[in-house]
Amino acid sequence: MKQVEVAVIGTGWCGGIRAETLARSALVDKLHICEIRPDRLAEVKALTRPASATLDYRDILKNPDISVVYVCTTPEQNHYPITRDCLKAGKHVLLEKPIALELWEADELITLAKRGRLKFTIGYSQRFNPKFAYAKKQITDGALGKVVSVMVSRHLNRGLGTKIAKRVKLSPVVMESTHDLDFVFWLLEPAQPVRVYSQGAYGYMQPINGSYDVMWSLVTMDDGTMVTIGGGWNLPPSYPNFCSTWVEITGTEGALVLDDTHRDVWLNTVAEGTRFPMSTMPGERVDHVFAGQMGPETIHFLESCIMDRPVMVTPESARIVMETYTAADLSAERNEPVDLPLSNAALSAVAEMAGGKR
Ligand SMILES: NC(=O)c1ccc[n+]([C@@H]2O[C@H](COP(=O)([O-])OP(=O)(O)OC[C@H]3O[C@@H](n4cnc5c(N)ncnc54)[C@H](O)[C@@H]3O)[C@@H](O)[C@H]2O)c1
Repeated sequence: MKQVEVAVIGTGWCGGIRAETLARSALVDKLHICEIRPDRLAEVKALTRPASATLDYRDILKNPDISVVYVCTTPEQNHYPITRDCLKAGKHVLLEKPIALELWEADELITLAKRGRLKFTIGYSQRFNPKFAYAKKQITDGALGKVVSVMVSRHLNRGLGTKIAKRVKLSPVVMESTHDLDFVFWLLEPAQPVRVYSQGAYGYMQPINGSYDVMWSLVTMDDGTMVTIGGGWNLPPSYPNFCSTWVEITGTEGALVLDDTHRDVWLNTVAEGTRFPMSTMPGERVDHVFAGQMGPETIHFLESCIMDRPVMVTPESARIVMETYTAADLSAERNEPVDLPLSNAALSAVAEMAGGKR
């Protein structure tokens, strides 16, 4: 059986899940891990027994035996430089979302991957959610006829919102609705987004990082389909790591409603009250099974590299998602719709807006 040497750079929450998944896979010859926090490095080392563990990602670049790398670092500013270095070193890369913070960075990563004939994908894990995969199949098979509208409402708890908001000044549409923009555009392929109108509302998060609690974006596709996506991060703390999503799809021949609110398993203990286990966005390992999407996503990318099969999420599609949420931010700021692709005038307004926030 063909096996490869793989590395995970950044073994926090998601990187920890990826490393544990890879450590259990028969496709992995040797696992290497890299983390700048020595205590977390030691923790994941004990869990996964890797061939090597380092504090410096340049050790991964220098090792010619490592062919596949998962980049799972925060803050998000370091996605671009670390991925650029990995691609330049000839490694196939799965990078957690977002692909980059600037559109030109995304373009450079896409070019580097193409030039090096390397697999490059973005961790839009929701495509591995069986409910969303089912929606894709029903739409592709024609069960709904022509899709007319898609609505997604996703809310995260404020503990998670605060974790994200403290490390990076990005809005809920950039950090959360990004997943929904990705899977909805995937459902609607080959339609492309042509216009975005977005609004945000302040609440709990404003004193923490100046961000909206919730943003709603209306996206018009070039075939007229209407996409409405709401994302927020202010659910009370009694929903630990809890993410609740509701999806409504209507078409000329049918409708599909997806309940991904994770209220199907309730745990109630004296110590912690009610909890909704297995309700995070990446999911979690439960002994011999992975409850969620990040486990299968991790292995799918490895198989794409080993068997030279297409990746699930192309970086070009992640770039379109990036352009759309960038337009959504601009729309909310200006209180007016923004056309896609972004014009030069809109791009300079985006640069001004980002400069002001920094
Ligand atoms: N697909 C999903 O469902 C999903 C869910 C949550 C987060 N994410 C994305 O995944 C990424 C990681 O999120 P997280 O919650 O795991 O973050 P995290 O903060 O828990 O982990 C990131 C780790 O990267 C380490 N790190 C930073 N710089 C490094 C470097 N130069 N070398 C090695 N390690 C370094 C940090 O010390 C930290 O431990 C984020 O960009 C986020 O947007 C995706």
